[in-house]
Amino acid sequence: MSWWWAGAIGAAKKKTTGDDADAPAARYQSVALVVGATGIVGSSLYDILPLADTPGGPWKVYGVSRRPPRPSLLSPNIADGVGLPVVHVPCDVADPADALAKLSPLGDVTHIFYAAWCRRSTAAETRATNAAMLRNVLDAVLPAAPNLQHVCLQTGRNHYLGPYGPAGGVVAEVGPRHDPPHDPPFPENTPRLAIPNFYYELEDVLLEELAKKERAVTWSVHRPTTIFGFSPCSLMNLVCSLCVYASICRKEGVPLRWFGSEEAWYGFSDASDADLVAEHQIWAAVDPYAKNEAFNCSNGDVFKWKHLWPVLAEQFGVPAVGYTGYDGRFKLEDAMKGKEAVWEDIVRENELVPTALDEVGHWWYADAVLGLEFEHLDNMNKSKEHGFLGFRNSVTSFNTWIDKLRAYKVVP
Ligand SMILES: NC(=O)c1ccc[n+]([C@@H]2O[C@H](COP(=O)([O-])OP(=O)(O)OC[C@H]3O[C@@H](n4cnc5c(N)ncnc54)[C@H](OP(=O)(O)O)[C@@H]3O)[C@@H](O)[C@H]2O)c1
Repeated sequence: MSWWWAGAIGAAKKKTTGDDADAPAARYQSVALVVGATGIVGSSLYDILPLADTPGGPWKVYGVSRRPPRPSLLSPNIADGVGLPVVHVPCDVADPADALAKLSPLGDVTHIFYAAWCRRSTAAETRATNAAMLRNVLDAVLPAAPNLQHVCLQTGRNHYLGPYGPAGGVVAEVGPRHDPPHDPPFPENTPRLAIPNFYYELEDVLLEELAKKERAVTWSVHRPTTIFGFSPCSLMNLVCSLCVYASICRKEGVPLRWFGSEEAWYGFSDASDADLVAEHQIWAAVDPYAKNEAFNCSNGDVFKWKHLWPVLAEQFGVPAVGYTGYDGRFKLEDAMKGKEAVWEDIVRENELVPTALDEVGHWWYADAVLGLEFEHLDNMNKSKEHGFLGFRNSVTSFNTWIDKLRAYKVVP
């Protein structure tokens, strides 16, 4: 049984190497550069890559982000295991000079995992900055890393739907409110939409930059849907946002009201477990059958929010109120305005890791995902046909990440 299969059913015994972080690269078979190391998938890569039984290993890991990971939020195998081969490289990859200065010395990198992004106030700026970030990383690393073998690029479901507008919600150009622009489930060869999308620009930058390299470096593109994961440093963590919303409801003695669309409440949804997305990227990085392809990356099952909502309410000890008709809908972004002091009280009273409300509550994203008025499923056939058989039970995944957020005292 291969590692990612065992991991995917939750059966993997995660072991640590106990190796020395400063040990020479020759001791490692592979050297990962995880760009976006504190993000929702970056932190799963950070956790999984250094494990002794990870394919392609033993791995040395460089993690890149502007802010360092908070020690209290690292997994025990990294936080306590002095000497694990994980090195944080603080770097602003939007700044070409900083990217060159910090990343070009990392000449032993063999694999890049690109899971960073930023959001700007206009769609055009978001596209330009994200394209520049990836280009800066590749410009710094490609000439400097003679043993570079593979680049994983993480994009997402909005490849098929169109990008989120600055105010959340899929941009108006993609079609009428009740219609996705393509008929789901979306296979990977679904044609691009005729509207600009930073995911398309990232793919184009990747292929352009790799084409310049004399020696072939392979690539893979990973398109998750809504990611269920842990990181409180993410720009889009739906599970964390919903936990914070539920905690505020409990504190204020009000029920947990569904704010989204009728379609999201009654219809089928899917999700992408952050560890599964990390496993999918590691598979593509090391498996010869996965090279130079784009893959959907979802859990492989479907669920309904009307079933998950009571689960969330129960976890936080509040009564749940489901979809009550169009007039009962509201924007979480509006409902959570001015709740900063309530969150401060919750953090203090429960001795949580200090966070500001806007760090852990991504209301625009919750409104965008749960407000969509159409089903938008993909399928995992292409990944399975290429040999990736990993999956997650989405309900278990939802509960597991809530448990972890509580265990690490991010939410009460
Ligand atoms: N989250 C989801 O549910 C989801 C779903 C589908 C698709 N996606 C897509 O997946 C991709 C990755 O997103 P994600 O959600 O995994 O990321 P994320 O959780 O928001 O994390 C972003 C990471 O990038 C780092 N970063 C941002 N700007 C940086 C800069 N200038 N220099 C260096 N590091 C920087 C952040 O750390 P610092 O801020 O400290 O620098 C953080 O580590 C995006 O294209 C996103 O659209 C996400």
